[in-house]
Amino acid sequence: MVEWTEQERTTITNIFTNLNYEDVGPKALCRCLIVYPWTQRYFGAFGNLYNAEAIMSNPNIAAHGITVLHGLDRAVKNMDNIKATYAELSVLHSEKLHVDPDNFKLLSDCLTIVIAAKLGKDFTPETQATFQKFLAVVVSALGRQYH
Ligand code: HEM
Repeated sequence: MVEWTEQERTTITNIFTNLNYEDVGPKALCRCLIVYPWTQRYFGAFGNLYNAEAIMSNPNIAAHGITVLHGLDRAVKNMDNIKATYAELSVLHSEKLHVDPDNFKLLSDCLTIVIAAKLGKDFTPETQATFQKFLAVVVSALGRQYH
């Protein structure tokens, strides 16, 4: 069971409360698809991913970036029970989508970069450490149902 200090809880809640999902979600997913092109293989039905411009202007990718952030919302609202919260989503990514769980870490790193760029000097080392901890718990929970 992961323990969270009050300060960590406040940091995570603040980040998500002030987040522009429509901006950050697409940017993070696009970055992942561009920097780690093998992650594109799961989005074959999403249309043109031919190059960075195509990825960044693909409305299906943008919409899915927002969906992913809303997926993270669930963890923010259930910080004491992230594992159970993601049980179903883990089964989906594993058994139906066959997403290699290593990719969760790649996407979460891309999200960290986009958020760091947004927050600027407010992205202090403490904030960064707390955000990385949160994402590590999410990544672990999403990888839980793989066997
Ligand atoms: C679908 C969340 C990482 C590929 C979804 C859905 C959510 C979600 C909420 C929609 C589920 C539904 O329709 O019920 C997340 C979160 C992630 C993550 C929180 C990590 C932070 C990834 C990664 C990949 C991926 C790394 C592949 C590289 C997909 C695909 C779908 C999906 C292909 C189905 C999309 C569709 O056909 O509409 N994910 N995901 N996900 N995810 Fe993830």
